[in-house]
Amino acid sequence: MKTDVSVVVGVGGMGRAVAARIGSGRHLFLADFDERLLTEAAAQFTEQGFEVSTHQVDAGDPASVAELAAAAAATGPIRHLVHTAGVSPVKASTEAIVRVDLCGVAYVLDEFAPLMARGAAGVVIASMAGHLAQLTAEQETALAATPTAELAGLPFLNPEPALHPMLAYPIAKRGATIRVQAAAGAWGRSGARVNSISPGVISTAQGRDELAGESGARMRQMIEQSATGRIGTAEDIAAAATYLLDPASSFVTGTDLLVDGGVVATMRAAMRG
Ligand SMILES: NC(=O)c1ccc[n+]([C@@H]2O[C@H](COP(=O)([O-])OP(=O)(O)OC[C@H]3O[C@@H](n4cnc5c(N)ncnc54)[C@H](O)[C@@H]3O)[C@@H](O)[C@H]2O)c1
Repeated sequence: MKTDVSVVVGVGGMGRAVAARIGSGRHLFLADFDERLLTEAAAQFTEQGFEVSTHQVDAGDPASVAELAAAAAATGPIRHLVHTAGVSPVKASTEAIVRVDLCGVAYVLDEFAPLMARGAAGVVIASMAGHLAQLTAEQETALAATPTAELAGLPFLNPEPALHPMLAYPIAKRGATIRVQAAAGAWGRSGARVNSISPGVISTAQGRDELAGESGARMRQMIEQSATGRIGTAEDIAAAATYLLDPASSFVTGTDLLVDGGVVATMRAAMRG
């Protein structure tokens, strides 16, 4: 009998923290765009005793994601799918953000839905920024219902003339949570669940880039004024993902868990105050 497979797409800070928690006794199937990071992560996990394989993928390319899903399914029954691949508004263009952070999530949700084992679970990493996005009801409906191949063509995602990456990122991340909600039914038909996590500021490569960027001062202020007053760790996200991937959450699907140290709660309370 083949070993159950835990697929982790994106082996940056969060991907590795989740992999370390779920990979024991399973086949860790690691995927990323960056081959250097993949090799490094595979060496780290192999040394720690995990059974590992790697697959290079471009999450923003539907053919590449289809190949990834087929390769993972050929390895064994897929028990977990953890999608952490993403690009940051500090470094990426609006086009790349829409392509990877929104369309990439939609490709992964579509391709893995029919391949998940019964009782399996998926987690997609979105962002606290999605909770702060200002979208109309029509835009939210479009993000939920537009066929995946047409998503990038939605007029309000058009980078020209003025959709700055800092505005595109919250929309893409809100779109990711909406896609997860919309995909829960299809995942349920395979006997699987899927949820998203919206992290606050987490001290990974991406989080540190954002703190060093033009909105860093504002982010630090948001953290200081939050309910916990601290930056998050990849472990904070891994703990939440572990719950959503475990049978303990077998009645939880199609929802988003905001894991932000209380940033959004304190901002909302201040606005209403
Ligand atoms: N760190 C934060 O503060 C923060 C906050 C909210 C949300 N997020 C989101 O969390 C997720 C994980 O980020 P992280 O903090 O671990 O950052 P990270 O930069 O450490 O990891 C992201 C990984 O995604 C990979 N990647 C990028 N584009 C890809 C593509 N097209 N195909 C495949 N892989 C690709 C990168 O190579 C990298 O390994 C991302 O989606 C990010 O947007 C991060």
